[in-house]
This record gives sequence, structure tokens and C-alpha cells, in this order.
Amino acid sequence: MRMILVGPPGAGKGTQAAKLVDRHKITHISTGDMLRAAVAEGSELGKQADGFMRSGQLVPDDLVIALVIERIAKPDCATGFMLDGFPRTRPQAEALDAELKKAGVALDVVLLIEVPDELIIERITGRRMDPDTGDIYHVQFNPAPAEVAGRLIQRKDDTAEACKARLEKYHSETAPIVPFYEEQGLIKRVDGVGAPAEIGERIAAIL
Ligand code: AP5
Repeated sequence: MRMILVGPPGAGKGTQAAKLVDRHKITHISTGDMLRAAVAEGSELGKQADGFMRSGQLVPDDLVIALVIERIAKPDCATGFMLDGFPRTRPQAEALDAELKKAGVALDVVLLIEVPDELIIERITGRRMDPDTGDIYHVQFNPAPAEVAGRLIQRKDDTAEACKARLEKYHSETAPIVPFYEEQGLIKRVDGVGAPAEIGERIAAIL
């Protein structure tokens, strides 16, 4: 299966991706995670991406497209992958399309997780991550077990200010990829409001 997860920041893409990876044994490719790893390593890509990410702006297309094209050419993507957070602009969607055509493969589904803006800020500002495992928690909606709680970190872009910028970018740059995939008959919409398990069931029913 070749699929894409799309949705606003904090929609639950990462949360649902973890469930899908378990269920479908599929390679999970999160550009956000890859870019955060590059920043932590202090690589050239990380140095270029850091400022954009902190302020909630998108990392330039050429950098992200190169990163993903290289990644999906790896052997663990030969039988499928789940892209989480990519594509995020129309040029990214077109570049991916061209690359898949060249490889003679096609997408199966683009899953759009829909959550209204007013719920996003509290999801984002309350998110905490386990730096050891990458597991995602929320101070209110999904508290971490006591043995993990002490080591949790908050992402640098999980401030109210950066979240506002990310939402604006989502509406201006990312939402326009939805009609692009709708024309190809690939979009499946999922209501992202409710408990994570409930949303997981909705996704399972679609897939
Ligand atoms: P990225 O890491 O992709 O961030 P994002 O798209 O903003 O998405 P998030 O990770 O914030 O949210 P999510 O939907 O995964 O939600 P989660 O499951 O964690 O990108 C970060 C940055 O990198 C970008 O801003 C950009 O700068 C750069 N970047 C990345 N890709 C790029 C690209 N292609 N092009 C250019 N730049 C790029 O859930 C959020 C919280 O809510 C958690 O605390 C969770 O526990 C909780 N939660 C989840 N589901 C529910 C629920 N159903 N009910 C209540 N709470 C819930």
C-alpha cells in the first residue's frame, strides 16, 4: 500500500500513523521527524531547516522534495510506504507524482484527517514527546505513564504563536493539494474529532 496522511498540524497524523504502522507493517515516512532528526544532528539540511520550523513556516520545497525522493527509493519502500506530512504544497505533490510515474507505481489512497481550527491549539500546546521512543502524548488527552513522564519534551514549534503560523500555512499551502488528489479520485476524508481509538476505527473501515 502506498498512502499519504494529510491534515492540519495536530490533526493526529502521527498518532494514527503509529497505529497504521503496527497494523499494516508499512514503512512510515514523516518529513517532520526526518527534519527534526537533521536539526538534532546539526547537518547542513538541519541548519537550513531549523529557523523555518521554529517559526512555523514550511521548509523550502527543493530541500524537502530531495529528502523524500531519496527516502522512497530505499528498499524498505519497495512494497509500500505511508507519507506523513508530505506533500504539503502543490509543487511537492507534483514532484511526487512525477517520481512515482517514473518508477511505474501509483498511490492507493490519500487520507485527509479533518479537525476544526479551534481544537488545534489545545492539541498542539498540550503535546509532549518521549525523546527515547518518539511516542506522542498529551497532558490532558493522553497522559504519559509515570515512568515516562519525567523525560518528556515539548517541541520547539508547539507554541501558540508558531501553531497559528502553521495553521495559516496549512490553509494557504497545503489545503490546495486536496483538489489535486480529489481529481485523481484518491481522497478519503476522516473526521478527526473524537477519541484516537475511535478515529483509528474510522480509518480501518476506510482502508
Ligand atoms: P510535522 O512534524 O509534520 O508537523 P505537523 O504537520 O504540524 O503535524 P504535527 O506533528 O504537529 O501533528 P500531527 O497531525 O502528527 O498530530 P499528533 O498525532 O502529534 O512538521 C513540523 C514542521 O516541519 C513543519 O511546520 C515544517 O516547518 C516542517 N515540515 C515538515 N514536513 C514538511 C514539508 N513536507 N514541507 C515543508 N516543511 C515541512 O497529535 C497532536 C496532539 O494531539 C498530541 O498531543 C496527541 O496526543 C493529541 N491527539 C491526537 N489525536 C487526538 C484526538 N483524537 N483527540 C485528542 N487529542 C489527540
